[in-house]
Amino acid sequence: MSAEELAALKAKGIKSVASPGDDPEAKVVKHSPVIALEGKKATVTLPHPQAEDHVIQNIWIEDAAGTVLASRTLAWTDATTSEFEVPEGTASVIAYAFCNLHGVYASPETTI
Ligand SMILES: [Fe+2]
Repeated sequence: MSAEELAALKAKGIKSVASPGDDPEAKVVKHSPVIALEGKKATVTLPHPQAEDHVIQNIWIEDAAGTVLASRTLAWTDATTSEFEVPEGTASVIAYAFCNLHGVYASPETTI
């Protein structure tokens, strides 16, 4: 998916653990990506179950300026874990996940 398409998904609204809107806690936790850093490798995970009609379709990372650094499109048969290489010189990253039924959720900003 292009950076423009990902931006269009974000424009519909972004939720997070810190800003859950009217989501109950369990729902926002299920959808919010978590970043684990190991050197320049960012592993992004979230505990959302995958089903044919209810699926995390995209996981991606951006820098603090909103530049998409890497993205992945998922099938419902894929696990909701993605590994990304963080480009040299990146100071921090934010991960996003898009659920086809519930929209876009963000991780906290994570300093590299
Ligand atoms: Fe969902």
